[in-house]
Amino acid sequence: MSRIAYVNGQYVPHMTAAVHIEDRGYQFSDGVYEVVAVHHGKLIDMDGHLTRLTRSLTELEMAWPVAPAALEVIIREVIRRNRIRDGIVYMQVTRGVAPRNHAFPAHQNSALVVMAKRFPPFDFDATNKGVNVITTPEIRWKRRDIKTVSLLGNCLAKEQAVRAGCYEAWFIEDDGMVTEGTSSNAWIVTADGELVTRDVSNAILNGITRLSIMKVANENGIEFVERAFSVDEARAAREAFVSSTTSFVKPVVKIDGDPVGDGKAGPLSTKLLAYFGEHIKAQIA
Ligand code: PDD
Repeated sequence: MSRIAYVNGQYVPHMTAAVHIEDRGYQFSDGVYEVVAVHHGKLIDMDGHLTRLTRSLTELEMAWPVAPAALEVIIREVIRRNRIRDGIVYMQVTRGVAPRNHAFPAHQNSALVVMAKRFPPFDFDATNKGVNVITTPEIRWKRRDIKTVSLLGNCLAKEQAVRAGCYEAWFIEDDGMVTEGTSSNAWIVTADGELVTRDVSNAILNGITRLSIMKVANENGIEFVERAFSVDEARAAREAFVSSTTSFVKPVVKIDGDPVGDGKAGPLSTKLLAYFGEHIKAQIA
């Protein structure tokens, strides 16, 4: 079966799907995106993703390409045409095609691309072995709260992680504070047992998975603190994990080659992974 993508009003074969060379997303990375998980045919945390997409568009004064309700219809149609039961759907909005000029065009004609692919579903029985991360200097721009396709800094750091045989890279600011991963949020359980993730500001993307973890933590009486934590605190932590739409909750067992805690997936991370599984189950029931 051939994959189908949606490009500016048309459902086209994925193989030949294309945008114009003067699309501002292509030339200036003037665009935003969302990645949503599909489990058992259901879009997970869709409201949160739409809220964040609205915010990204608003922050960049970018027009909606279609009405939000129409976007949902298109997304469901892309999932249907690709027969995705478990997977991810990717949507991208750019400021559209205009003669190359850094300033915004007078008439914005936002462009929309939607694609979907199969992806392993959430494994409710996962025995999680954990992953390794490296740390790397924070080299990105100062509006990381916007989910923009401008991801070169993220790509460079992820490539560094892959070359080091690691799953993710954590960005460290000049003051030694961890911001987030290249495509995930960072969490630790400190040596004193405090569950910590960075507070929301322009420094990080407010992950939808991050928000869902906070929700399940609250529901299950698990306390957490939103604050910046240092790389030294992370190295001394009992546990660490990353969260994202595609990683769910992934325990981190090594940072820069040194074991976190006893070097195994920690109990609180494992518990939160299970609670997150319940959160997904509730949406596919
Ligand atoms: N990445 N921080 C960054 C820089 C991210 O790119 C992502 C998500 C997150 C976690 O956000 P969420 O929980 O909403 O997925 C944090 C997606 C998955 C991606 O770029 O593929």
